Amino acid sequence: MAEPVAGDGEVLVDVRHVSLNYGDLNDAKSGRVPAGAVLGSDFAGVVVGGILPAGARVVGLAAGAFAGKVVVGADSVAEVPAMVDLAQAAALPVAGVAALRALRAGGSLLGRRVLVTGASGGVGRFAVRLAGLAGAHVIASVGSAARGEGVVADEVVVGLDGVHTPVDLVLDNVGGSQLVAAWGLLAPGGSLQSIGWTSGEPAVFPPYSTIGPAKSLTSFINAGPVGSDLADLLRLVESGDLPVEIGWRGSLESFAEAAAALRGRRVNGKAILDITG
Ligand SMILES: NC(=O)c1ccc[n+]([C@@H]2O[C@H](COP(=O)([O-])OP(=O)(O)OC[C@H]3O[C@@H](n4cnc5c(N)ncnc54)[C@H](OP(=O)(O)O)[C@@H]3O)[C@@H](O)[C@H]2O)c1
Repeated sequence: MAEPVAGDGEVLVDVRHVSLNYGDLNDAKSGRVPAGAVLGSDFAGVVVGGILPAGARVVGLAAGAFAGKVVVGADSVAEVPAMVDLAQAAALPVAGVAALRALRAGGSLLGRRVLVTGASGGVGRFAVRLAGLAGAHVIASVGSAARGEGVVADEVVVGLDGVHTPVDLVLDNVGGSQLVAAWGLLAPGGSLQSIGWTSGEPAVFPPYSTIGPAKSLTSFINAGPVGSDLADLLRLVESGDLPVEIGWRGSLESFAEAAAALRGRRVNGKAILDITG
């Protein structure tokens, strides 16, 4: 493909690492990114052109990130501190920013009970850590004890059957019956942020389950430039408060293996692909 050229307000980045998101697989499966086009969202690399200094290490979000070079608006990247590994930084954009924004949308978390479903995955692990940093009592729901390995929360539960005390905020990555169960656990005044739907199941609400004291179910989407939120996340990674858990790593040539591991729920955290040559 022709090498991209940076326009006004853009940077050209030599990509070193990308991360694989569930959304990238959905993009391919749904045809949103058609066959023959370039997939990918999260990248980290080194600036080689445009309005930032050449040689700067950056992380960002761009359509078509699974490439040797990407062009992106400068407001969609953040500079990576020297102490932070570029491969770890590549894990942050889609999953970290979604977790950060969905938690912020839930308001003050100090002393609040926060439930994260799909807590073993990319968004989930970041959300659990960030909610804990914000002073919440965090309940992390995972699919099995093995999938909960390394998840640091006040409570790690398998499914939602063992949760009985109401929660103030839900970050739901799974949809289907877990979304319905999480809605039932939501306290009056609480909100459920619907981030993802990895279960692929429909959500069937029992009659009258949406009647009662006000609480809300809110749709969520990562929209707009992510640069400043990425800078916030990088500061937390640099200070050691936000560990980046990489559950799979290999070269871009091993994409099929990474995709199978993510779909097969075998990645504890993020999958990172290195771009070589
Ligand atoms: N709205 C947005 O802007 C936005 C941004 C980022 C992500 N998302 C969405 O959020 C969801 C989570 O993304 P992610 O990157 O964290 O994905 P991920 O790393 O694959 O994690 C998803 C988790 O969902 C759980 N899960 C439950 N049932 C599943 C099933 N039938 N198949 C696969 N996983 C299942 C898995 O946990 P267990 O194996 O422990 O059950 C898995 O760890 C996805 O739907 C993604 O598209 C949306």
